[in-house]
Amino acid sequence: MLDFEKLRKSLRLVLFYGNNWTSLIGGAITSASAVVLVGFWVVSFFGRGGSSNPYLGILFDVFLPGLFIFGLVLIPIGIWLRRRQLKALGQIPSVYPQINLKDPVFRRGIEIVIVATFINFVIVGTASYRTVSYMDSANFCGQSCHVMAPQWAAYQVSPHSHVACVECHIGSGFSAAVQAKVNGTKQLVEVTLGNYPRPILAPLSVLRPARATCEACHSPTRFVGEKLLVETMFGDDEKNSITRTVLALHLGGVDSLSHLSGIHGHHLDDYEYVATDTTFQTIIAVSKHNADGSTTQYVSSDWKGPVTGVTRRMDCMDCHNQATHTFQTAEDAIDEVMVDGTPSASLPFVHKQGLQLIQAEYATQAEAAAKIASGLDDFYRTQYPAVWSGQRAQVDAAAKALVAIYRRNVFPEMKVTWGTYPNGMGHSAPGHNPSPGCFRCHDGNHTSKDGKTLTNDCSVCHNLLAVDEANPKQLADLGLQ
Ligand code: HEC
Ligand code: HEC
Ligand code: HEC
Ligand code: HEC
Ligand code: HEC
Repeated sequence: MLDFEKLRKSLRLVLFYGNNWTSLIGGAITSASAVVLVGFWVVSFFGRGGSSNPYLGILFDVFLPGLFIFGLVLIPIGIWLRRRQLKALGQIPSVYPQINLKDPVFRRGIEIVIVATFINFVIVGTASYRTVSYMDSANFCGQSCHVMAPQWAAYQVSPHSHVACVECHIGSGFSAAVQAKVNGTKQLVEVTLGNYPRPILAPLSVLRPARATCEACHSPTRFVGEKLLVETMFGDDEKNSITRTVLALHLGGVDSLSHLSGIHGHHLDDYEYVATDTTFQTIIAVSKHNADGSTTQYVSSDWKGPVTGVTRRMDCMDCHNQATHTFQTAEDAIDEVMVDGTPSASLPFVHKQGLQLIQAEYATQAEAAAKIASGLDDFYRTQYPAVWSGQRAQVDAAAKALVAIYRRNVFPEMKVTWGTYPNGMGHSAPGHNPSPGCFRCHDGNHTSKDGKTLTNDCSVCHNLLAVDEANPKQLADLGLQ
């Protein structure tokens, strides 16, 4: 049962002091935002609205609940201020104005206050739950903040476009959540003040180990065996001549007899390496733990000093660092869209011109879009007037495709351009991969004390079935051409 005598006393006090503008405005803000929020939830419950748009999401899942709480907080502040003011004026009454509990209107008032408080609790509870789950969605991470534009663009076309950012970037459990919110708040402050790093650095060292991320979905022991890779490239000549490279990659894994083989089969042991930079591109030594308990350390012969630096245990992400945020090289990007037919290889020199246009420096994506389109148009108008008038639609479509691959990979405002983020897959190859990748260790220069060198033999990793051939016989044999 309620202690009516006590309740009456405190209620009289609240009503007396609460009769001030600050508290009244607070009450109004709270009830108004509550009505809007409830309305929105009802609408999204019946399937319309929802917060798939990040800005709508910010409004309904972050801003309005904040406003609601702000209003609630104003009420006691107003009460406190009024009390202080009256005290200073010496106007505090010895007895607060009477409240007659027998008055049915007043009793109804009390009931309403109790019910309203209960509803407030429900609203705050639901709102905070929704705020947290909204902030965990890929929409929030990728789109609310323009700073994430490069990663968001790459994410949407990656095989992980349905894996939430938090699955890889934040663990489950309480401490992961707290750590993430602390980091997030720090980053929010940096973004607000504008002093965040550009480009945003690769946080391989702050990510949880692959065991807790990738391996939650992918089995490290899955056997793939040989993987056939076909690369199609277009030349810089007038005819944009096609060549193909075909390789059988010895991906391996753990086979049914538990034999370890190939690229995936190795590196599953506890390899530990030492790098001299925070993006792990310069690896001076790598140690392998052998079955007999001994350790073999391969040290780069380029390195003369003591072997110290950032130490890291090698896992999936050292090769698959761009598992989700895959930024292409300009050559790979243009070859890929030309394989799909636009830009059309029937446009003379389109590969060479297109490459030059997307590789030029622009201040913004908008400037790039304008200059790439006008640049290509100018080229055909002045150099190939017949093509310009006869294949106008193809020239326009080519420009559109070039702008699209530029927008997908280059973000001048974030200082992200071709090759900014290193790629651990494969190895430095002219025009393909600007980063050393496998050759960070397998450069033929990492040698152990007993004279063993980490392999640099092309055929240990792949068989090159055809290199830059116009019509590789192997593809015909496989029925792929
Ligand atoms: C499948 C796992 C995975 C998912 C899903 C994922 N990331 Fe990442 N992310 C990584 C890995 C691994 C790195 C480290 C890259 C490196 O060290 O080069 C990374 C790095 C980053 C970086 C640092 C810059 C860079 O490109 O290296 C940012 C920013 C980032 N992620 C944002 C996001 C956002 C935003 C989303 C969701 C839209 C997301 N990530 C989803 C695995 C993931
Ligand atoms: C929440 C589950 C999940 C997590 C975590 C996850 N992946 Fe994936 N991964 C997937 C799914 C689903 C696919 C898409 C499979 C498909 O489309 O065939 C995929 C695809 C891939 C592919 C492409 C396979 C192909 O055939 O092209 C690679 C490589 C990959 N993941 C590596 C990683 C790495 C490395 C990590 C850790 C940084 C990781 N994944 C984390 C679920 C996950
Ligand atoms: C030494 C480097 C390296 C390590 C370490 C590594 N991978 Fe890979 N992985 C590769 C390469 C190279 C490919 C083939 C790339 C391609 O298809 O272009 C590949 C392919 C894959 C694929 C696609 C397989 C398919 O059927 O096409 C998946 C999935 C994958 N890796 C997951 C993982 C996971 C999970 C781990 C950690 C347990 C891991 N990888 C560790 C180099 C590595
Ligand atoms: C951090 C250093 C490091 C990186 C990066 C690295 N590896 Fe290795 N790799 C090793 C070590 C150490 C061994 C084991 C050598 C031994 O058996 O003593 C090894 C072994 C191998 C083997 C087996 C060699 C043999 O003689 O049978 C293959 C194949 C291989 N790596 C492929 C790759 C590929 C492909 C990549 C890039 C996608 C890569 N590695 C990246 C350190 C590395
Ligand atoms: C340590 C393992 C390793 C060694 C050694 C190695 N490669 Fe590769 N190479 C790879 C991997 C992994 C890829 C596939 C990258 C991908 O998924 O696109 C590759 C891809 C290629 C490609 C295709 C173009 C590209 O970059 O995608 C060519 C060409 C190539 N290698 C040539 C060579 C030659 C020539 C040698 C010997 C001098 C060599 N490689 C040694 C691992 C290796």
